[in-house]
Amino acid sequence: MKFFIDTANLQQIKEAQDLGILDGVTTNPSLMAKEGISGYDNVMKHYKAICEIVDGDVSAEVIATDYDGMIKEGEALADLHEQIVVKVPMIKDGVKAIKYFSDKGIRTNCTLIFSSGQALLAAKAGATYVSPFIGRLDDISTDGLRLIEDIRIIFDNYAYDTQILAASVRHTMHIINCAEIGANVMTGPLSAILGLLKHPLTDSGLAQFLADHAKSNK
Ligand code: E4P
Repeated sequence: MKFFIDTANLQQIKEAQDLGILDGVTTNPSLMAKEGISGYDNVMKHYKAICEIVDGDVSAEVIATDYDGMIKEGEALADLHEQIVVKVPMIKDGVKAIKYFSDKGIRTNCTLIFSSGQALLAAKAGATYVSPFIGRLDDISTDGLRLIEDIRIIFDNYAYDTQILAASVRHTMHIINCAEIGANVMTGPLSAILGLLKHPLTDSGLAQFLADHAKSNK
């Protein structure tokens, strides 16, 4: 499973990259706003800065919600850097835009997926990734992981190339569960990724090894 980090924070992206396990980055307009990035030129500069830190795919979201606007923004984003994947919302014009981008060889991430039918539609339009938001489904007492399972079955039935990018991952167990189900990618916060490191028996075992080493090397 590929690991993407879900942030526009350059420090956190660098930290995940330095760990040697990072395959890409996802951003969204809320994450950009959280970092205080505003204005077209600054946003484009920031995407470029992210691409220079990581080797993998960087999802950059269009703001327009009409077909022509999405095409214009998406083409500019794709021209910015070869690592950019154009993030398009799951709306009618978004599906049309994904088909256009797919025909032109521009990679896309269809965002705000909350049902397997939406994922199927995006795959048929040629999306590179679909992003089911598991955390936001959990927030409204609906099983987000179940959606990943359903999409996995559908994509496997028809051998769609579209990759399942489990998004809105909130914690470490989400990552493990996504890997068990067979998500192709997960995107989550640095805290959830670093949570995978933790086990009290690792800590106590290491402390014991070091204490024994110190005793016998006095
Ligand atoms: C996905 O690409 C989104 O940026 C993100 O995962 C949304 O996560 P949230 O529900 O924690 O905001």
